[in-house]
Amino acid sequence: MSEGKLPENVPAQGKDLPIREQPPPPHPIHQAQKVTPYEVSGGVDENGVAIAINYNKLVEEFGTKRIDKTLLEKFERVTGHKAHRFLRRGIVFSHRELDMILDRHEKGEPFFLYTGRGPSSDSMHVGHTVPFEFTKWLQEVFNVPLVIMLTDDEKFLYSKKGLTQEAAMQYAMDNAKDIIAVGFDIKKTYIFSDLASMDAPFYQNVNLFSKAVTFNQIRGAFGMTDSDSIGKIHYAAIQGATSFATTFPYIFGDDKKRVAKIPSLIPCAIDQDPYFRVTRDISSRLKYVRPALIHSIFLPALQGPGSKMSASDETSAIFMKDTQNQIKNKVNKYAFSGGQVSAEEQRKLGGNTDVDVSFQYLTFFLEDDAELERIKVAYQKGEMLTGELKQICIRELQTYVKGFQERRAQVTDEIRDEYMRKRKLEFRNNPNPVNGTDKK
Ligand code: TRP
Repeated sequence: MSEGKLPENVPAQGKDLPIREQPPPPHPIHQAQKVTPYEVSGGVDENGVAIAINYNKLVEEFGTKRIDKTLLEKFERVTGHKAHRFLRRGIVFSHRELDMILDRHEKGEPFFLYTGRGPSSDSMHVGHTVPFEFTKWLQEVFNVPLVIMLTDDEKFLYSKKGLTQEAAMQYAMDNAKDIIAVGFDIKKTYIFSDLASMDAPFYQNVNLFSKAVTFNQIRGAFGMTDSDSIGKIHYAAIQGATSFATTFPYIFGDDKKRVAKIPSLIPCAIDQDPYFRVTRDISSRLKYVRPALIHSIFLPALQGPGSKMSASDETSAIFMKDTQNQIKNKVNKYAFSGGQVSAEEQRKLGGNTDVDVSFQYLTFFLEDDAELERIKVAYQKGEMLTGELKQICIRELQTYVKGFQERRAQVTDEIRDEYMRKRKLEFRNNPNPVNGTDKK
Protein backbone atom coordinates (compact mmCIF):
# COMPACT_ATOMS: atom_id res chain seq x y z
CA MET A 1 0.00 0.00 0.00
CA SER A 2 1.40 3.36 -0.98
CA GLU A 3 2.70 5.70 1.67
CA GLY A 4 1.38 9.26 1.83
CA LYS A 5 3.09 11.23 -0.90
CA LEU A 6 3.00 14.98 -1.17
CA PRO A 7 0.80 16.29 -3.94
CA GLU A 8 2.78 17.13 -7.05
CA ASN A 9 1.87 20.79 -7.07
CA VAL A 10 3.59 21.50 -3.78
CA PRO A 11 6.91 23.11 -4.81
CA ALA A 12 10.08 22.14 -3.02
CA GLN A 13 11.01 24.54 -0.25
CA GLY A 14 12.80 27.17 -2.39
CA LYS A 15 15.92 28.34 -0.62
CA ASP A 16 16.47 31.04 -3.21
CA LEU A 17 13.11 32.72 -2.86
CA PRO A 18 12.85 35.85 -0.74
CA ILE A 19 11.35 35.07 2.62
CA ARG A 20 7.93 36.55 1.84
CA GLU A 21 7.54 34.29 -1.19
CA GLN A 22 8.48 31.06 0.54
CA PRO A 23 5.59 28.65 -0.16
CA PRO A 24 3.75 27.58 2.95
CA PRO A 25 5.03 24.23 4.20
CA PRO A 26 2.78 21.37 3.11
CA HIS A 27 0.48 20.18 5.87
CA PRO A 28 2.56 17.80 7.97
CA ILE A 29 -0.18 15.19 8.22
CA HIS A 30 -1.17 14.86 4.57
CA GLN A 31 -1.69 11.12 4.03
CA ALA A 32 -2.89 8.87 1.25
CA GLN A 33 -5.67 6.32 1.76
CA LYS A 34 -4.48 3.21 3.54
CA VAL A 35 -6.48 0.01 3.97
CA THR A 36 -4.83 -3.14 5.33
CA PRO A 37 -6.10 -5.69 7.88
CA TYR A 38 -4.35 -3.58 10.51
CA GLU A 39 -5.04 -0.02 9.42
CA VAL A 40 -8.05 1.66 7.83
CA SER A 41 -8.00 5.30 6.83
CA GLY A 42 -9.31 7.25 3.86
CA GLY A 43 -6.35 9.59 4.27
CA VAL A 44 -6.06 13.26 5.08
CA ASP A 45 -5.89 16.15 2.62
CA GLU A 46 -3.38 19.00 2.57
CA ASN A 47 -5.51 20.91 5.04
CA GLY A 48 -5.55 18.06 7.51
CA VAL A 49 -9.18 17.17 6.75
CA ALA A 50 -10.18 13.49 6.70
CA ILE A 51 -11.11 12.15 3.26
CA ALA A 52 -13.86 9.54 2.78
CA ILE A 53 -12.60 6.07 1.87
CA ASN A 54 -12.55 5.60 -1.90
CA TYR A 55 -13.97 2.11 -2.37
CA ASN A 56 -13.70 2.19 -6.17
CA LYS A 57 -9.98 2.69 -5.79
CA LEU A 58 -9.80 -0.32 -3.47
CA VAL A 59 -11.58 -2.52 -6.00
CA GLU A 60 -8.97 -1.49 -8.52
CA GLU A 61 -5.96 -1.83 -6.22
CA PHE A 62 -7.04 -5.17 -4.78
CA GLY A 63 -8.23 -6.50 -8.13
CA THR A 64 -11.70 -7.51 -6.93
CA LYS A 65 -14.95 -7.07 -8.87
CA ARG A 66 -17.83 -4.71 -8.16
CA ILE A 67 -21.15 -6.38 -7.51
CA ASP A 68 -23.17 -5.07 -10.45
CA LYS A 69 -26.80 -5.16 -11.47
CA THR A 70 -26.42 -8.31 -13.58
CA LEU A 71 -24.90 -10.22 -10.69
CA LEU A 72 -27.62 -9.00 -8.32
CA GLU A 73 -30.28 -10.17 -10.76
CA LYS A 74 -28.60 -13.53 -10.97
CA PHE A 75 -28.47 -13.66 -7.16
CA GLU A 76 -32.20 -13.01 -6.92
CA ARG A 77 -33.05 -15.45 -9.69
CA VAL A 78 -30.93 -18.30 -8.31
CA THR A 79 -31.87 -17.89 -4.65
CA GLY A 80 -35.47 -16.74 -5.09
CA HIS A 81 -34.82 -14.04 -2.44
CA LYS A 82 -34.93 -10.28 -2.84
CA ALA A 83 -31.35 -8.98 -2.44
CA HIS A 84 -30.51 -7.88 1.11
CA ARG A 85 -30.57 -4.11 1.67
CA PHE A 86 -26.77 -4.18 2.05
CA LEU A 87 -26.56 -5.54 -1.50
CA ARG A 88 -29.20 -3.18 -2.88
CA ARG A 89 -27.37 -0.16 -1.42
CA GLY A 90 -23.76 -1.03 -2.19
CA ILE A 91 -22.81 -1.70 1.44
CA VAL A 92 -21.80 -5.18 0.35
CA PHE A 93 -20.19 -3.98 -2.85
CA SER A 94 -17.40 -6.20 -4.10
CA HIS A 95 -16.63 -9.89 -4.62
CA ARG A 96 -14.37 -12.59 -5.94
CA GLU A 97 -16.16 -15.39 -7.82
CA LEU A 98 -19.57 -14.96 -6.20
CA ASP A 99 -20.95 -15.99 -9.61
CA MET A 100 -19.25 -19.39 -9.24
CA ILE A 101 -20.98 -19.86 -5.86
CA LEU A 102 -24.34 -18.93 -7.39
CA ASP A 103 -23.79 -21.54 -10.12
CA ARG A 104 -23.08 -24.16 -7.47
CA HIS A 105 -26.15 -23.19 -5.51
CA GLU A 106 -28.24 -23.45 -8.65
CA LYS A 107 -26.96 -26.98 -9.24
CA GLY A 108 -27.30 -28.02 -5.60
CA GLU A 109 -23.53 -28.44 -5.18
CA PRO A 110 -22.12 -27.94 -1.68
CA PHE A 111 -20.21 -24.93 -0.34
CA PHE A 112 -19.90 -23.35 3.09
CA LEU A 113 -19.64 -19.92 4.68
CA TYR A 114 -16.58 -18.81 6.63
CA THR A 115 -16.14 -15.62 8.61
CA GLY A 116 -14.39 -14.50 11.79
CA ARG A 117 -13.55 -11.93 14.40
CA GLY A 118 -10.51 -10.90 16.37
CA PRO A 119 -11.81 -11.17 19.93
CA SER A 120 -11.34 -8.20 22.25
CA SER A 121 -12.30 -7.02 25.70
CA ASP A 122 -14.49 -4.30 24.31
CA SER A 123 -18.14 -4.88 23.62
CA MET A 124 -18.98 -5.27 19.95
CA HIS A 125 -20.22 -2.14 18.23
CA VAL A 126 -22.72 -1.87 15.40
CA GLY A 127 -19.84 -1.77 12.90
CA HIS A 128 -18.82 -5.28 13.98
CA THR A 129 -22.30 -6.67 13.60
CA VAL A 130 -22.69 -5.57 9.95
CA PRO A 131 -20.69 -8.47 8.40
CA PHE A 132 -22.29 -10.88 10.87
CA GLU A 133 -25.83 -9.69 10.07
CA PHE A 134 -25.11 -10.23 6.43
CA THR A 135 -23.57 -13.65 7.04
CA LYS A 136 -26.66 -14.70 8.98
CA TRP A 137 -28.83 -13.71 6.04
CA LEU A 138 -26.61 -15.64 3.62
CA GLN A 139 -26.89 -18.69 5.85
CA GLU A 140 -30.68 -18.48 5.70
CA VAL A 141 -30.77 -17.90 1.96
CA PHE A 142 -28.34 -20.69 1.03
CA ASN A 143 -28.98 -23.09 3.91
CA VAL A 144 -25.30 -24.01 4.19
CA PRO A 145 -22.93 -24.64 7.11
CA LEU A 146 -21.07 -21.70 8.61
CA VAL A 147 -17.76 -21.67 10.48
CA ILE A 148 -16.85 -18.64 12.61
CA MET A 149 -13.21 -18.27 13.60
CA LEU A 150 -12.24 -16.38 16.77
CA THR A 151 -8.66 -15.32 16.27
CA ASP A 152 -7.36 -15.19 19.83
CA ASP A 153 -3.95 -16.22 18.45
CA GLU A 154 -3.91 -13.19 16.12
CA LYS A 155 -4.92 -10.86 18.97
CA PHE A 156 -2.12 -12.24 21.15
CA LEU A 157 0.48 -11.87 18.39
CA TYR A 158 -0.53 -8.30 17.58
CA SER A 159 -1.04 -7.10 21.15
CA LYS A 160 1.18 -4.24 22.21
CA LYS A 161 -0.23 -4.23 25.72
CA GLY A 162 1.06 -7.55 26.97
CA LEU A 163 -2.24 -9.44 26.48
CA THR A 164 -1.78 -13.03 27.66
CA GLN A 165 -2.98 -16.03 25.66
CA GLU A 166 -5.31 -16.94 28.53
CA ALA A 167 -6.93 -13.50 28.45
CA ALA A 168 -7.29 -13.62 24.65
CA MET A 169 -8.99 -17.02 24.95
CA GLN A 170 -11.35 -15.61 27.53
CA TYR A 171 -12.27 -12.76 25.16
CA ALA A 172 -13.05 -15.38 22.53
CA MET A 173 -15.42 -17.15 24.93
CA ASP A 174 -17.12 -13.85 25.82
CA ASN A 175 -17.33 -12.58 22.24
CA ALA A 176 -18.84 -15.90 21.10
CA LYS A 177 -21.97 -15.02 23.08
CA ASP A 178 -22.27 -11.67 21.30
CA ILE A 179 -21.90 -13.36 17.94
CA ILE A 180 -24.52 -15.98 18.83
CA ALA A 181 -26.90 -13.13 19.74
CA VAL A 182 -26.85 -12.02 16.08
CA GLY A 183 -29.06 -15.06 15.56
CA PHE A 184 -27.12 -17.85 13.83
CA ASP A 185 -28.81 -21.23 13.48
CA ILE A 186 -27.24 -23.53 16.11
CA LYS A 187 -27.71 -26.58 13.89
CA LYS A 188 -25.69 -25.08 11.05
CA THR A 189 -23.02 -23.01 12.85
CA TYR A 190 -19.66 -23.92 14.37
CA ILE A 191 -17.77 -21.25 16.34
CA PHE A 192 -14.19 -21.92 17.43
CA SER A 193 -11.18 -20.35 19.12
CA ASP A 194 -7.90 -20.92 17.29
CA LEU A 195 -5.88 -21.38 20.48
CA ALA A 196 -8.36 -23.75 22.10
CA SER A 197 -9.37 -25.92 19.18
CA MET A 198 -6.68 -26.41 16.55
CA ASP A 199 -6.46 -30.13 15.84
CA ALA A 200 -4.46 -32.36 13.48
CA PRO A 201 -6.41 -31.76 10.22
CA PHE A 202 -6.38 -28.00 10.84
CA TYR A 203 -2.66 -27.96 11.59
CA GLN A 204 -1.91 -30.06 8.52
CA ASN A 205 -3.62 -27.46 6.34
CA VAL A 206 -1.78 -24.65 8.12
CA ASN A 207 1.46 -26.47 7.45
CA LEU A 208 0.65 -27.06 3.77
CA PHE A 209 -0.24 -23.40 3.46
CA SER A 210 2.91 -22.12 5.13
CA LYS A 211 5.12 -24.16 2.82
CA ALA A 212 3.44 -22.67 -0.25
CA VAL A 213 3.77 -19.01 0.77
CA THR A 214 6.99 -16.99 0.94
CA PHE A 215 7.84 -14.15 3.29
CA ASN A 216 7.89 -11.92 0.23
CA GLN A 217 4.23 -12.62 -0.55
CA ILE A 218 3.19 -11.82 3.01
CA ARG A 219 5.32 -8.71 3.17
CA GLY A 220 3.73 -7.49 -0.06
CA ALA A 221 0.17 -8.15 1.06
CA PHE A 222 0.43 -6.87 4.66
CA GLY A 223 3.30 -4.42 4.73
CA MET A 224 5.39 -6.53 7.15
CA THR A 225 8.95 -5.53 7.94
CA ASP A 226 12.03 -7.54 8.92
CA SER A 227 11.44 -6.72 12.56
CA ASP A 228 7.91 -8.17 12.75
CA SER A 229 7.69 -11.40 14.74
CA ILE A 230 7.61 -14.63 12.76
CA GLY A 231 4.26 -15.27 14.47
CA LYS A 232 2.65 -12.34 12.64
CA ILE A 233 4.14 -13.51 9.38
CA HIS A 234 2.92 -17.05 9.96
CA TYR A 235 -0.54 -16.09 11.16
CA ALA A 236 -1.72 -15.61 7.55
CA ALA A 237 -1.46 -19.41 7.16
CA ILE A 238 -3.97 -19.91 9.97
CA GLN A 239 -6.58 -17.45 8.70
CA GLY A 240 -6.03 -18.80 5.18
CA ALA A 241 -6.17 -22.53 6.00
CA THR A 242 -9.61 -22.09 7.51
CA SER A 243 -10.91 -21.42 3.98
CA PHE A 244 -10.52 -25.12 3.15
CA ALA A 245 -13.26 -27.64 3.94
CA THR A 246 -10.68 -30.35 4.75
CA THR A 247 -9.86 -28.37 7.91
CA PHE A 248 -13.22 -29.55 9.31
CA PRO A 249 -13.59 -33.34 8.82
CA TYR A 250 -16.24 -33.53 11.57
CA ILE A 251 -18.43 -31.24 9.45
CA PHE A 252 -17.64 -32.40 5.93
CA GLY A 253 -16.43 -35.98 6.38
CA ASP A 254 -13.10 -37.75 5.82
CA ASP A 255 -13.21 -38.27 2.05
CA LYS A 256 -10.41 -35.78 1.39
CA LYS A 257 -10.67 -35.91 -2.39
CA ARG A 258 -14.32 -34.99 -2.37
CA VAL A 259 -14.07 -32.47 0.47
CA ALA A 260 -11.12 -30.67 -1.21
CA LYS A 261 -13.57 -29.56 -3.90
CA ILE A 262 -16.04 -27.87 -1.51
CA PRO A 263 -15.35 -24.12 -1.66
CA SER A 264 -16.01 -21.52 1.00
CA LEU A 265 -17.74 -18.21 0.50
CA ILE A 266 -16.17 -15.64 2.84
CA PRO A 267 -18.21 -12.59 3.80
CA CYS A 268 -15.84 -9.99 5.29
CA ALA A 269 -15.05 -6.30 5.42
CA ILE A 270 -12.79 -5.35 2.50
CA ASP A 271 -9.72 -4.92 4.75
CA GLN A 272 -9.51 -8.73 5.16
CA ASP A 273 -9.10 -9.30 1.43
CA PRO A 274 -5.27 -9.52 1.48
CA TYR A 275 -5.40 -12.79 3.47
CA PHE A 276 -7.62 -14.41 0.93
CA ARG A 277 -5.86 -13.00 -2.11
CA VAL A 278 -2.82 -14.95 -0.94
CA THR A 279 -5.01 -17.99 -0.17
CA ARG A 280 -6.58 -17.96 -3.63
CA ASP A 281 -3.13 -17.68 -5.22
CA ILE A 282 -1.88 -20.88 -3.65
CA SER A 283 -5.08 -22.98 -3.44
CA SER A 284 -4.60 -24.90 -6.65
CA ARG A 285 -1.06 -25.85 -5.63
CA LEU A 286 -2.59 -27.41 -2.53
CA LYS A 287 -5.17 -29.13 -4.78
CA TYR A 288 -7.96 -27.27 -3.03
CA VAL A 289 -10.69 -25.25 -4.67
CA ARG A 290 -10.27 -21.47 -4.24
CA PRO A 291 -12.45 -19.62 -1.72
CA ALA A 292 -14.90 -17.01 -3.03
CA LEU A 293 -15.40 -13.67 -1.29
CA ILE A 294 -18.02 -11.05 -0.75
CA HIS A 295 -16.83 -7.72 0.70
CA SER A 296 -18.52 -5.00 2.72
CA ILE A 297 -17.61 -1.37 3.31
CA PHE A 298 -17.07 -0.03 6.84
CA LEU A 299 -19.70 1.62 8.96
CA PRO A 300 -18.33 5.15 9.34
CA ALA A 301 -17.46 6.49 12.79
CA LEU A 302 -19.88 8.98 14.32
CA GLN A 303 -17.32 11.67 13.51
CA GLY A 304 -17.77 11.16 9.78
CA PRO A 305 -16.68 9.31 6.66
CA GLY A 306 -12.95 8.60 6.31
CA SER A 307 -12.65 6.49 9.42
CA LYS A 308 -14.38 3.43 10.80
CA MET A 309 -15.93 2.82 14.19
CA SER A 310 -13.26 1.96 16.71
CA ALA A 311 -13.79 -0.19 19.79
CA SER A 312 -11.12 1.73 21.66
CA ASP A 313 -12.83 5.10 21.17
CA GLU A 314 -16.11 5.32 23.13
CA THR A 315 -17.35 8.35 21.23
CA SER A 316 -16.70 6.95 17.74
CA ALA A 317 -19.20 4.11 17.91
CA ILE A 318 -22.58 2.85 19.03
CA PHE A 319 -21.87 -0.21 21.17
CA MET A 320 -24.17 -3.20 21.44
CA LYS A 321 -24.18 -2.71 25.20
CA ASP A 322 -25.15 0.99 25.04
CA THR A 323 -28.37 1.98 26.79
CA GLN A 324 -31.20 3.60 24.85
CA ASN A 325 -30.22 6.92 26.40
CA GLN A 326 -26.55 6.59 25.51
CA ILE A 327 -27.52 5.95 21.89
CA LYS A 328 -29.65 9.07 21.84
CA ASN A 329 -26.98 11.23 23.43
CA LYS A 330 -24.16 9.95 21.24
CA VAL A 331 -26.06 10.54 18.01
CA ASN A 332 -27.24 13.97 19.10
CA LYS A 333 -23.82 15.03 20.33
CA TYR A 334 -21.34 13.37 17.97
CA ALA A 335 -23.01 12.27 14.71
CA PHE A 336 -21.41 14.36 11.98
CA SER A 337 -24.09 16.39 10.22
CA GLY A 338 -24.35 17.25 6.55
CA GLY A 339 -26.89 19.93 7.44
CA GLN A 340 -26.50 23.68 7.41
CA VAL A 341 -25.53 25.80 10.42
CA SER A 342 -29.03 27.12 11.11
CA ALA A 343 -32.61 26.00 10.50
CA GLU A 344 -33.10 28.92 8.08
CA GLU A 345 -30.03 27.97 6.05
CA GLN A 346 -31.10 24.35 6.04
CA ARG A 347 -34.58 25.25 4.73
CA LYS A 348 -32.95 27.37 2.02
CA LEU A 349 -30.00 25.20 0.97
CA GLY A 350 -30.80 21.66 2.12
CA GLY A 351 -28.43 19.10 3.60
CA ASN A 352 -25.76 16.81 2.17
CA THR A 353 -26.73 13.15 2.66
CA ASP A 354 -23.38 11.93 1.28
CA VAL A 355 -21.49 13.03 4.38
CA ASP A 356 -24.28 13.04 6.95
CA VAL A 357 -23.53 10.18 9.35
CA SER A 358 -27.12 9.82 10.62
CA PHE A 359 -28.28 9.35 7.05
CA GLN A 360 -25.44 6.92 6.36
CA TYR A 361 -26.50 4.81 9.34
CA LEU A 362 -30.06 4.75 8.05
CA THR A 363 -28.80 3.22 4.82
CA PHE A 364 -27.43 0.36 6.94
CA PHE A 365 -30.37 -0.14 9.28
CA LEU A 366 -33.61 1.15 7.73
CA GLU A 367 -35.15 -1.69 5.72
CA ASP A 368 -37.81 0.26 3.81
CA ASP A 369 -36.40 1.58 0.50
CA ALA A 370 -39.28 3.99 -0.12
CA GLU A 371 -39.01 5.52 3.35
CA LEU A 372 -35.26 5.93 2.94
CA GLU A 373 -35.77 7.71 -0.39
CA ARG A 374 -38.41 9.99 1.14
CA ILE A 375 -35.99 10.99 3.93
CA LYS A 376 -33.19 11.56 1.46
CA VAL A 377 -35.22 13.87 -0.75
CA ALA A 378 -36.72 15.79 2.18
CA TYR A 379 -33.30 16.34 3.75
CA GLN A 380 -31.65 17.39 0.50
CA LYS A 381 -34.47 19.84 -0.22
CA GLY A 382 -34.28 21.32 3.28
CA GLU A 383 -37.77 20.17 4.19
CA MET A 384 -36.24 18.03 6.92
CA LEU A 385 -33.91 19.46 9.55
CA THR A 386 -30.91 17.75 11.12
CA GLY A 387 -32.75 17.28 14.41
CA GLU A 388 -35.53 15.32 12.71
CA LEU A 389 -33.10 13.18 10.77
CA LYS A 390 -31.21 12.38 13.96
CA GLN A 391 -34.50 11.42 15.63
CA ILE A 392 -35.19 8.81 12.96
CA CYS A 393 -31.63 7.50 13.14
CA ILE A 394 -31.81 7.22 16.94
CA ARG A 395 -35.10 5.31 16.73
CA GLU A 396 -33.68 2.77 14.23
CA LEU A 397 -30.45 2.25 16.19
CA GLN A 398 -32.35 1.87 19.46
CA THR A 399 -34.63 -0.79 17.98
CA TYR A 400 -31.69 -2.68 16.50
CA VAL A 401 -29.61 -2.61 19.69
CA LYS A 402 -32.59 -3.52 21.89
CA GLY A 403 -33.35 -6.62 19.80
CA PHE A 404 -29.72 -7.66 20.08
CA GLN A 405 -29.64 -7.16 23.86
CA GLU A 406 -32.77 -9.27 24.33
CA ARG A 407 -31.26 -12.14 22.38
CA ARG A 408 -27.90 -11.70 24.14
CA ALA A 409 -29.57 -12.11 27.54
CA GLN A 410 -30.78 -15.57 26.47
CA VAL A 411 -27.32 -16.93 25.58
CA THR A 412 -26.18 -19.23 28.39
CA ASP A 413 -22.81 -20.97 28.78
CA GLU A 414 -24.44 -24.24 27.72
CA ILE A 415 -25.75 -22.76 24.49
CA ARG A 416 -22.34 -21.28 23.74
CA ASP A 417 -20.63 -24.60 24.44
CA GLU A 418 -22.94 -26.30 21.96
CA TYR A 419 -22.05 -23.83 19.18
CA MET A 420 -18.37 -24.44 19.97
CA ARG A 421 -18.51 -28.23 19.99
CA LYS A 422 -16.90 -30.11 17.08
CA ARG A 423 -19.82 -31.88 15.48
CA LYS A 424 -21.70 -32.63 12.30
CA LEU A 425 -23.86 -29.74 11.16
CA GLU A 426 -27.33 -30.08 9.69
CA PHE A 427 -27.76 -28.45 6.32
CA ARG A 428 -29.25 -29.06 2.99
CA ASN A 429 -28.25 -27.22 -0.14
CA ASN A 430 -30.68 -25.94 -2.69
CA PRO A 431 -33.60 -28.40 -2.41
CA ASN A 432 -34.52 -27.90 -6.08
CA PRO A 433 -31.24 -28.09 -7.96
CA VAL A 434 -30.96 -27.54 -11.70
CA ASN A 435 -28.72 -30.09 -13.47
CA GLY A 436 -27.12 -31.19 -10.23
CA THR A 437 -23.93 -33.24 -10.63
CA ASP A 438 -22.31 -33.37 -7.23
CA LYS A 439 -25.23 -33.76 -4.90
CA LYS A 440 -24.54 -34.83 -1.35
N1 TRP B 1 -8.67 -11.15 11.17
C1 TRP B 1 -10.05 -10.90 11.44
C2 TRP B 1 -10.17 -9.77 12.49
O1 TRP B 1 -9.23 -9.33 13.08
C3 TRP B 1 -10.78 -12.12 11.95
C4 TRP B 1 -11.04 -13.13 10.88
C5 TRP B 1 -10.50 -14.37 10.78
C6 TRP B 1 -11.94 -12.99 9.76
N2 TRP B 1 -10.97 -15.01 9.68
C7 TRP B 1 -11.87 -14.21 9.05
C8 TRP B 1 -12.79 -11.98 9.34
C9 TRP B 1 -12.64 -14.40 7.89
C10 TRP B 1 -13.55 -12.17 8.19
C11 TRP B 1 -13.48 -13.39 7.48
O2 TRP B 1 -11.26 -9.32 12.76
